[in-house]
Amino acid sequence: MKKSVLVCRAVFPDIVDRLREHFEVETNEPDIVWSRDELIAHLQGKAGVFITGTQPIDAALLDACPELKAVCSMAVGYNNVDLPACTARGVLVSNAPDVLTETTADFGFALMMATARRIAESEHFLRRGEWTKWSVEGFAGSDVHGATLGVLGMGRIGQAIARRGALGFGMKVIYHNRSHLSAEIEADHKAHYVSKDELLRQCDHLVIVLPYSKESHHTIGAAELALMKPTATLTNIARGGIVDDAALARALAARQIAAAGLDVFEGEPSVHPDLLKVPNVVLTPHIASASVATRLAMADLAADNLIAALGFGPNAGKPPTPINPEVLRR
Ligand code: DGY
Repeated sequence: MKKSVLVCRAVFPDIVDRLREHFEVETNEPDIVWSRDELIAHLQGKAGVFITGTQPIDAALLDACPELKAVCSMAVGYNNVDLPACTARGVLVSNAPDVLTETTADFGFALMMATARRIAESEHFLRRGEWTKWSVEGFAGSDVHGATLGVLGMGRIGQAIARRGALGFGMKVIYHNRSHLSAEIEADHKAHYVSKDELLRQCDHLVIVLPYSKESHHTIGAAELALMKPTATLTNIARGGIVDDAALARALAARQIAAAGLDVFEGEPSVHPDLLKVPNVVLTPHIASASVATRLAMADLAADNLIAALGFGPNAGKPPTPINPEVLRR
């Protein structure tokens, strides 16, 4: 009898077909966001689960689903998965790194540019029928070329943003990260390490690309925003919760910083109501990795991981991107 797996959200049919070559597959075609209890009910009897970045997988859920052996996510961020709990129970977890790096960096750069050049704000003005004359200072924003780009979190996506800034737009790139990058990587990206406070003080455009964890919760709050230039912009493509959205809304309303571009929010899909009231913010619904090719590649990689983790396909027993590979060695 085939093993059973669950695909938590609606995904491309080709991906489901690939999984069906090896497994009994339960899908969620109507794309319902299941409650925790519904998720546990759907997971009964399943050996593996294909998740996205939003289904919470924790110790209590694992205990309620003892047959689960593989949790494979199509997201790169895995703050929704309790990794130690999975490892302790011998459950393999995988994510989807690399395949989304360039697409996500494209979007981060686009959001930063839209924020700096006030694209959304001016489009709303035009759509409201308020454009009656051209004016010298109309929606004058700040330059991106030649400005100082501050990257907070210099992993793969942070580095891809730094490359765009340094090599494409002649920006001065400074970064802050848990660790210094090697001199070689710094040279390739024309990037200089600075303390977090210096990053905030010096940058014209801050782009946040940190992974979310208890430690990175509210890395940017009122005190940090107060260090930034009044002309600076802030772009968050990382995770909601890294920025204190209420404090950011206050800083934007008071013009303590010039503008923000946000793709992720605390408690999304809810958005802090004060962010909806301020004009100087560009808001997008967590779509940084959303090109068709990249979402397909992410889903494909999650399927590769699930198939291999449960012992099938050309990589049987060797999923390509495990996060807790120690489980495989047991
Ligand atoms: C990721 O891959 O982590 C994106 O944010 C989508 O969840």
